[in-house]
Amino acid sequence: MKNGNKIGRNDPCPCGSGKKYKKCCMGKQNSRPVDVKRWYRQKYDIRLKEKKDVEGIKAAGRIVLESLDMVEAELKAGMTTDEINTLVHEHAEKYGAVPAPLNYRGFPKSVCTSVNDVICHGIPGEYVLKDGDIINVDVTHIYKGYYADASKTFFVGTPGPDAQKIVRVAGESLKAAMEMLAPDNTIGDIGWAIQSCAERQGCSVVREFVGHGVGFDFHEPPQVPHYGKKGEGIVLVPGMVFTVEPMINLGKPQLFIKDDGWTAVTADREPSAQFEQTFFITEDGFESLTPYFL
Ligand code: MF3
Ligand code: CO
Ligand code: CO
Repeated sequence: MKNGNKIGRNDPCPCGSGKKYKKCCMGKQNSRPVDVKRWYRQKYDIRLKEKKDVEGIKAAGRIVLESLDMVEAELKAGMTTDEINTLVHEHAEKYGAVPAPLNYRGFPKSVCTSVNDVICHGIPGEYVLKDGDIINVDVTHIYKGYYADASKTFFVGTPGPDAQKIVRVAGESLKAAMEMLAPDNTIGDIGWAIQSCAERQGCSVVREFVGHGVGFDFHEPPQVPHYGKKGEGIVLVPGMVFTVEPMINLGKPQLFIKDDGWTAVTADREPSAQFEQTFFITEDGFESLTPYFL
């Protein structure tokens, strides 16, 4: 087991008794087997998912992916980001799904649309898309009580070289992260893979927003930073479901938030791109619950 999972004397006992380790199985010969589900809940507040939960999140994920496909098919210069909002909202409704962003902590719309120098949490509105823009569309739906969260960055018309580069590097960063998704690797390994991929190519990683546990709720523990050191952080175990959603900037990593309280924009006004999927850690690797080709 890696350092990140070393059991402290005062940690909850991994047998799931609820007692401190030192007062329970520590040093005992016939200690009870580790109950990972109870251990991760007690130690990190992480809720591991059962098979039926994974099926539920996957069903939500299929609708999320279909929403993204539909937006991609309709996307063109001259359309407003509010039209994308309507498309996504009505598509969710058709399945009896609920768009999770709507009214989430006061967010006013059903999807995030983040154009060019907007890093994330762009609010759909009157902005008219133009040839050469890039736009991240971030969809989270609740279906039969389960949440799935995914996003892609699309080109509007013909991309210039900067747009092409940042979208390519953001996609490669998520791909690099996927290579780390297996039991006994750590959350730090994920961040390390993303950060190395982005910085190697002269891009930078946004620190203020992170991936997150998802499924029973929109944002659950753990946080999944998109930077980090190999071997650090929580050890991945089967049953974990979380997003990885690197926001990669062409220029510097700093940002500011607009007066609307949501829209995150690069401080240097250079473009930013993002890809996100919801992942499930299996016994021998991972499965994407919102799979698309990168
Ligand atoms: N979908 C975003 C994420 O990946 C969260 C959006 S919160 C909202 O975590 F309120 F802006 F919708
Ligand atoms: Co997310
Ligand atoms: Co999202």
